[in-house]
Amino acid sequence: MSFLRLPSMLTVIILSLWETSGCGAMTLNSTALLQVSARTRGGGAGVYSTQSRRRRSWVWNQFFVLEEYTGDEPLYIGKLHSDLDKGDGQVRYVLSGEGAMSIFSIDEDTGDIHTTKSLDREQQAYYTLRAQARDRNTNLPLEPESQFIIKVQDINDNEPKFLDGPYVARVAERSPVGTSVLTVVATDADDPTYGNSAHLVYSILQGQPYFSVEPKSGVVRTALPDMDRELRDHYLLVIQAKDMIGQMGGLSGTTTVTVMLTDVNDNPPRFPRKSYQFSVPESTLVSAVVAKIKALDADAGPNAEMDYRILDGDGLGTFRMLTDPHTQEGLVILIKTLDFETKTSYALRVEASNRYMDTRFLSAGPFSDVATVRLQVEDVNEPPCFSPRISQMAVSEAAPVGTEVGSVSAHDPDASNCPIRYAIDRKSDVENYFEIDRQSGVIWTSRRLDRELSALHNITVLATESLDHSQVGKAVVLVSVTDVNDNAPSFPVEYQTSVCEDAQPGQIIVTLSAVDLDEPKNGHHFLFSLAAKAAWNQSFVLRDNNDNTASVLTWRAGFLQRERPLYFLPVVISDCGTPPLSSTNTLTVTVCECDLHGNRRSCVQEMSALLLPEGLSLAAVVLLTGLLTLLGVAMVTGAIRRRRKEPLIIDDERDVRENIVCYDDEGGGEEDTEAFDMFTLRHLNETKRSYHVTAPEPPPFREDKHQLFQEFIEDRLREANLDMTAPPFDSVQTYALEGSGSAAVSLSSFSSLTSLESEQSYHFLSEWGPKFRKLAELYKDREGGGAS
Ligand SMILES: *[C@@H]1O[C@H](CO)[C@@H](O)[C@H](O)[C@H]1NC(C)=O
Ligand SMILES: *[C@@H]1O[C@H](CO)[C@@H](O)[C@H](O)[C@H]1NC(C)=O
Ligand SMILES: *[C@@H]1O[C@H](CO)[C@@H](O)[C@H](O)[C@H]1NC(C)=O
Repeated sequence: MSFLRLPSMLTVIILSLWETSGCGAMTLNSTALLQVSARTRGGGAGVYSTQSRRRRSWVWNQFFVLEEYTGDEPLYIGKLHSDLDKGDGQVRYVLSGEGAMSIFSIDEDTGDIHTTKSLDREQQAYYTLRAQARDRNTNLPLEPESQFIIKVQDINDNEPKFLDGPYVARVAERSPVGTSVLTVVATDADDPTYGNSAHLVYSILQGQPYFSVEPKSGVVRTALPDMDRELRDHYLLVIQAKDMIGQMGGLSGTTTVTVMLTDVNDNPPRFPRKSYQFSVPESTLVSAVVAKIKALDADAGPNAEMDYRILDGDGLGTFRMLTDPHTQEGLVILIKTLDFETKTSYALRVEASNRYMDTRFLSAGPFSDVATVRLQVEDVNEPPCFSPRISQMAVSEAAPVGTEVGSVSAHDPDASNCPIRYAIDRKSDVENYFEIDRQSGVIWTSRRLDRELSALHNITVLATESLDHSQVGKAVVLVSVTDVNDNAPSFPVEYQTSVCEDAQPGQIIVTLSAVDLDEPKNGHHFLFSLAAKAAWNQSFVLRDNNDNTASVLTWRAGFLQRERPLYFLPVVISDCGTPPLSSTNTLTVTVCECDLHGNRRSCVQEMSALLLPEGLSLAAVVLLTGLLTLLGVAMVTGAIRRRRKEPLIIDDERDVRENIVCYDDEGGGEEDTEAFDMFTLRHLNETKRSYHVTAPEPPPFREDKHQLFQEFIEDRLREANLDMTAPPFDSVQTYALEGSGSAAVSLSSFSSLTSLESEQSYHFLSEWGPKFRKLAELYKDREGGGAS
């Protein structure tokens, strides 16, 4: 950066304003200055009073100073002078205001102003200061204070700057010369009003001859006509701005502009080859892609988008073309199944054209290209095919096993024409109703058919090539089973009806209909009649309505419940098939008591009525009920008695041993259902019957006054001892409350036996096993003569 150094400028501006009374001073501006009303020298203090304008003796207004002064000495700016200054040193000059002490200095005696620092106009363009002349002795102002300006003078110390750079711009390729690309703008901080320091000129340093820039406006334009994006798609320009109108010595700044060329459709699609060949298996499924071709286009984006179509050829109905939206490839798609045996190759003429054209470039030639696509069909071993694929057959349900139903036929579509073997898919005929001849395809029945079970058989027939078992063709055979009359008609529901006791003859009591599982072609025709006259004995008649219904009417009046509560009418229904089938169905008629409006009030219970044989009277019913009641009472009584005979059977979970130990705690006898496990004991009694102890006679008692009681006890004891169902041990049966000191002593079997000093040995008890160990111990004590 170079600075222009100008010679220092000395400025003393003393201008005469309006009076020239011996004073050469003058001012440019008269209005802002203050006036001094009285001027007294030496004596009293200065008294100011604002009055009308008066002559002034010295005025100054403006100094100029160059910026960026780099000299060692303070730079002289100018001089203050008062005409009161006689040069005798009586006047002192004082400076105040912006930068008065820091930047600017004044010589008190001479009024010379210097700047002590280098100034920058771009930082501060002028400084406002005040000056005053004072009497050196009194320090009184000799002149009113005056204001002046120090202007900093510009030098070209700032280079132009591109504040918005670097730039990126786009312009379409092949734009005409002079197409505006963008405008660059540089700014210069120097004073635009002074000199040419901020007067810029633009030029292009890099990017010629493709682009140019207008020197004054900075508009960048194309400078070559046929710039091709496909050759070069971006340019880097360097633009310079220079001040001083671009003259030597001016300062300059640069920026870069990246110009991208945008695409236009100036390239047609082209197939890289003139012909393509593909092979397609004849088994290819419809809508599969069989070939892909691609025309090339140097353009980008939408300008490279293409449409493919088949112009002509022999595959117009067999193929069509689509464009892959992602790759712009042309897809050849199969729209009809191929058959190698019919046609082995196809040739298509295919065109690719741009979807969006630019008319400017059409003159250069067509924006499309044509190529040939050959498609070779490959032979594939195909499974046999049936004709027809679905066949319908019919067979009577009466047909005997082995009846031929029909036949199917399939052939190998391949040139080899391999022989075919037939079979039935067993999954479609799980119950094996049909068989097929392997060679001829004739189907016959292998079981009796029943239309009422299955009216339609949907079977799948397989045809397999005899040489290649993997080639299997399928056909559906629908065998419908035709009806024969093999089901008799019957009531649709079990009819239950009633007749009022006061019914009149000719009253319809029920209307009957019938169903039949068979399905004759002309529909059903049922005939109704009553059979077995004795059963209804002129009480009812049946009227066939000839519309597959029949009405049952009363034939007489005077039905009486107590005479005969029920009628069972045998209704014969016959169909009109060949041969006709008939069945007898029973209609139950209950005789009911009815009120005046014919509403049933009481009928014989239908359940019990159904149990009764025909012709039983009400009396018999009553009698039977009575008998049943008696029988029930007898059974209950018996059950109660049995319960009373088995009082010893108690909780069978208890352990015998545990209960016998507490001998003192004599239990409640037969009433004590808590004490013993009688079931176990009874069981023991049965298996070990040989050990059963027969009771001997009890000893006589000592005191007569207990005679009666004693006899009673003895009787009970004897009874207990002789009781074959009693357990083989003391069950501690207590017949009366007795203490330990009772005169009757213990009446237990134990004591009775012990008191006898029986010759019987109880050794066997220890042989009975652990269950009886406690008992055995007890008896061992007794044998040893111990007390109870
Ligand atoms: C004179 O001074 C006044 C006020 O300070 C200012 O507005 C005016 O522009 C000045 N005139 C000249 C010629 O400098
Ligand atoms: C017979 O079976 C095949 C396959 O099991 C099925 O597609 C077809 O709909 C069936 N036809 C009839 C009439 O039920
Ligand atoms: C038929 O009923 C009548 C009365 O309605 C009776 O006199 C006759 O004995 C009955 N005949 C038979 C066979 O039950």
